[in-house]
Amino acid sequence: MDWKERVYCGEITSSHEGRDVLLMGWVDAIRDHGNVLFIHLRDIRGIAQVIFNPQMDKASYKKAATLREEYAIQVRGKVAIRKKGTENPNLKTGGVEVFATDLVIFSKSKNLPFQISEKAMVFGEEIQASPENVDEDLRLKYRYLDLRRPSMQEILIKRYQIIKCIREYLDQLNFIEIETPFLTKSTPEGARDYLVPSRIHKGKFYALPQSPQLFKQLLMMSGTDRYFQIARCFRDEDLRPNRQPEFTQLDLEASFIDEEFIYEIIEELTVRVFALGGKVLPRPFPRMEYSEAIEHYGTDRPDIRFDMAFEDVTDIVQDTGYSVFRQIISNGGQIKGFCVKGQAAALSKNVLQNEYSMKIAPSFGAKGMTWMKVIDGGLESNIVQFFTRAEQNGLMKRFGAEDGDVLIMIADVSRDLISEVLCSLRLHIADRLDMIPENSYRPLWVCNFPLFELKDGKVSSQHHPFTMPDPAGFSPTNMEELLGLNSRAYDLVVNGEELGGGSIRIHKMEIQEKVFKALGLTKEEVETKFGFFLRALEYGAPPHGGVALGIDRMIAMILSVPSIRDVIAFPKNRRALCPLSRAPSPADKSHLEELNLGSGFRTRKAGSGIYGSTQEDITEHELKRPEKISRDEVAHVAKLARLKLDDSEAAIYQKDLNSILDYFETLKGLDTEKVRPMSHVLEVKNVWREDKPGKAKKTKPLLSNAPVREKGYFKVPKILES
Ligand code: AMO
Repeated sequence: MDWKERVYCGEITSSHEGRDVLLMGWVDAIRDHGNVLFIHLRDIRGIAQVIFNPQMDKASYKKAATLREEYAIQVRGKVAIRKKGTENPNLKTGGVEVFATDLVIFSKSKNLPFQISEKAMVFGEEIQASPENVDEDLRLKYRYLDLRRPSMQEILIKRYQIIKCIREYLDQLNFIEIETPFLTKSTPEGARDYLVPSRIHKGKFYALPQSPQLFKQLLMMSGTDRYFQIARCFRDEDLRPNRQPEFTQLDLEASFIDEEFIYEIIEELTVRVFALGGKVLPRPFPRMEYSEAIEHYGTDRPDIRFDMAFEDVTDIVQDTGYSVFRQIISNGGQIKGFCVKGQAAALSKNVLQNEYSMKIAPSFGAKGMTWMKVIDGGLESNIVQFFTRAEQNGLMKRFGAEDGDVLIMIADVSRDLISEVLCSLRLHIADRLDMIPENSYRPLWVCNFPLFELKDGKVSSQHHPFTMPDPAGFSPTNMEELLGLNSRAYDLVVNGEELGGGSIRIHKMEIQEKVFKALGLTKEEVETKFGFFLRALEYGAPPHGGVALGIDRMIAMILSVPSIRDVIAFPKNRRALCPLSRAPSPADKSHLEELNLGSGFRTRKAGSGIYGSTQEDITEHELKRPEKISRDEVAHVAKLARLKLDDSEAAIYQKDLNSILDYFETLKGLDTEKVRPMSHVLEVKNVWREDKPGKAKKTKPLLSNAPVREKGYFKVPKILES
């Protein structure tokens, strides 16, 4: 093959005029003009227009007539400047064209499952094929075709450039890249582990790393000083749009440093990589205490592109005539809300009462929602008459409210619920009213997280158990003290998304032991799980700390693509399946036996192949089955069934439906091969109705008594209201 001579399609310019060029690539689009054939030839660097003219070369013209989209070909031809008026401004190479003198067809393509050409733009006619219009599972099944799209190639190239930029920057700072093991012991990051059975050590398992956390700390104890890794992590957790079971982190750790070191280098790095996507980040990155984030935004990853911070107004309405508030306050509850600036016209009384109070706020878990509009210096709402003038003024002052603003308030005995609901309402309203500025990126550090939290009544780490407590002197048995402890942990948040997290670590054995004790781990459990790590802490561990950035999330944001799946070459779908390779799939029986995994697994039938898709691999149905039932879906079905479900009932139905689906999932693992069919106590057979047609009665035509007819249709009463 003449690869040395090859010129890239996207790089032909007028400087090539009159020269012979050799192009290789895929047929992007074809246009037959009767006696001349135009094709767009596409390679990794762009598209060139190639003309097959029988008068120039009859043989190649004839062969070109057999070309179809996505054939892989080689064209030799002469470059010419396009005639005035025939230039294609949509193509980088739109000023030139190549007159073919030779054509080699490397390989043909079957009919495509979806259109690949994104910008056929033949003769200026733009055919935009956006990947969003194609079913995602189909795209993932034929990922090799999906990735041929120029926009997907561009993402892969940009991803490479962003990672290259990270490597170069860290190299300048004397960080070195070190790989840590994949086959390892569990690293607790709050998710389930993916386990790998050992054949040699029967009954024993490796765990794929949820992060390189323990190994990067061991590297610090090994004297490495500044480490980083573009690290693959594996977490078996419930999927969300910004989560993948395997994803990539920029993992980083340094010794003899404090938080400021991390803030400084990560701010510079983040600014640099966002600039690669043309995005400017304001500096310095502000910092917000965790407690402030929860208090004013109801989340530890606040989106600060828009305001609407929460205010507690319990004190103002303490003795109000509005009994709902009074009762909640007397039960130890709280009244909290936010002010929507200048949106009184957009948020009509109808929208506020019938949509937000009655439907949207309850769908987020609230029992109700109070709204007030500021009009002519006073408040208006359906309940404002219960509030004194002083209370109304107090509310307006606390919220900084002026004419045209809307106040939204939630009252409840549970502060957590108030936070959650207000957080969802804030985002819902901002989104609905287009209050989130486009192309604006607002980073911040959220710091001073609590060290512990209560999960199912048990003390557990908010981050991971290697985070330095603040202060380090505490009693591991004093629950109240434990839950009040801060940690030296920080998260990098941009536009409400957690892009990274890290902490200063424990480097003293006694403190680490105390944390394990607080977590309720016995000495034996600690030894089995982390003995190897604790040992290293006994040999002069340096003070150290680090961070990990979610590379996929960050790149998706830099490139403004909606899903992290779009920035990963071969991602899993929303259900953690790979539609391309059809993984996960059953294993061969012999393989399982070799691993001592016994029976109880669905196995692959002998001879069904390792790579081929078999009946026992994932079925189309499995691929397509929707995600678990959401609260919205329960509400929708209840509405269709004309059932009025209150929030707690909807939650019960949601739980039940989900557990049915979960149970259904477990059945798929059953090996029913050797199970004998069950028999009924009573003999079961199909019973057909004795079909003795009587004398045919004269029947009336269907719906002949329908009350109203119109244009040949019957009108029937409405049964559903929209
Ligand atoms: P953490 O668990 O916060 O910290 O992870 C760091 C960052 O990784 C990204 N991330 C994910 N991205 C895609 N899919 C997932 N399933 C997923 N889970 C996490 C997020 C997150 O902020 N070892 C610590 C870091 C440290 O302490 O240095 C850790 O892994 O962007």
